[in-house]
Amino acid sequence: AEVIIVNDKAAGGEIVAREIARLVRSNPETVLGLATGSTPLPVYEALTKHLDGIDVSQVRGFALDEYVGIAAGHPESYRAVITREVVEPLGLDAARIHTPDGSTDGIEHAGEDYERAIEASGGVDLQILGIGTDGHIGFNEPGSSFASATRVKTLTAQTREDNARFFASVDEVPRHCITQGLGTILRAKHLVLLAFGGGKAKAVAAAVEGALTASVPGSAIQLHPHVTVVVDEAAASELS
Ligand code: F6R
Repeated sequence: AEVIIVNDKAAGGEIVAREIARLVRSNPETVLGLATGSTPLPVYEALTKHLDGIDVSQVRGFALDEYVGIAAGHPESYRAVITREVVEPLGLDAARIHTPDGSTDGIEHAGEDYERAIEASGGVDLQILGIGTDGHIGFNEPGSSFASATRVKTLTAQTREDNARFFASVDEVPRHCITQGLGTILRAKHLVLLAFGGGKAKAVAAAVEGALTASVPGSAIQLHPHVTVVVDEAAASELS
């Protein structure tokens, strides 16, 4: 992977936003792979500037994941987060931006439906990734197969604690999610993994230069021919 060390998150957001704007200018129907959580927020913020004046009406997007069984309209459902942080500020067409369907009825088809929709779009051009402190990408927790497709997974206790900040308490964090698989993520044409802060240093080092192992789902990026890793000094501190 190409590793870019930036001074701060804002600088990381700038670099990635510039690349996305370049893609959208060259192909108005660019398919973006969207992540939620705190890490990609500087990218979305910088994009408001970099996409200004560019036609984004045809841009398509697929989120990595969604909680299962979260009340429809809950502000922390990833559909709601993507709407609030990406679709609305960037003026994207909501109908072209997809999130896996985490509602419990039809959950048995939701993974396959999502895979088909991604395939029908022609595939993700640029996939934004964060990484969990336990090494997950998407919500592919340790033990996920490198060949996995979109499916329901159980969140680890660590991930539920990490995400408790978005909810009233850890008990409110859903126990299950539906996530693109590692195999799905690897089919994107370009992977851009971002990480900021010392809390991510071990996971970044394990993913970028550790053993290729299902115990570190992020290590799957080593199988991809076009990966860019954008980190601040603290997140890069365990890299050799
Ligand atoms: C979010 C996702 C997760 C996060 C990861 C890091 O869609 O798939 O893999 O990227 O949990 O979360 P933050 O960025 O909040 O530290």
